[in-house]
Amino acid sequence: MLSPDLETRLNEQMRSEFSSAHLYLQMAAHFETSGFPGFSAWMRAQADEERAHAMRFFDFILDRGGTAVLGAVEAPPAEFGSPLEVFEASLAHERTITTAIDGLYEGADRATSAFLDWFATEQVEEEATVSQIVESLKLAGQSGPALLIMDRDLGSRSTAPDPGA
Ligand SMILES: [Fe+2]
Ligand SMILES: [Fe+2]
Repeated sequence: MLSPDLETRLNEQMRSEFSSAHLYLQMAAHFETSGFPGFSAWMRAQADEERAHAMRFFDFILDRGGTAVLGAVEAPPAEFGSPLEVFEASLAHERTITTAIDGLYEGADRATSAFLDWFATEQVEEEATVSQIVESLKLAGQSGPALLIMDRDLGSRSTAPDPGA
């Protein structure tokens, strides 16, 4: 059984993961309409991953005999800036999520800690991936050809489903 406090906090993280999916899908829409189909595809895949993260919490809460409560999903901003600004916003968002995951370990029982370990590792990978994209975008600067090459490269991201989901 989950403690009521832990159950509430796990539900809150599930909501955050759904909000992340919403944010990235909005970013995908932005890229789609601003001439970057590859960045858009990358963000769509990212949104799918976040939804899979939310489902991990959903299943874990239920498996532990808890009640999964789907709270309101945060509305993402409707407008975004340059590709660099969008990916910087994504990096800042991932850092916030990493801090939230770390915070969940406090007061977590052993099974919940083991469950959270997957997320702790996943956050390292997500932050590293997005940091690298941010650095590449900084190098690309205002160069149209460089941005188009990056758009093509990111568009080839594999969208294999999360094996653990
Ligand atoms: Fe996530
Ligand atoms: Fe994420």
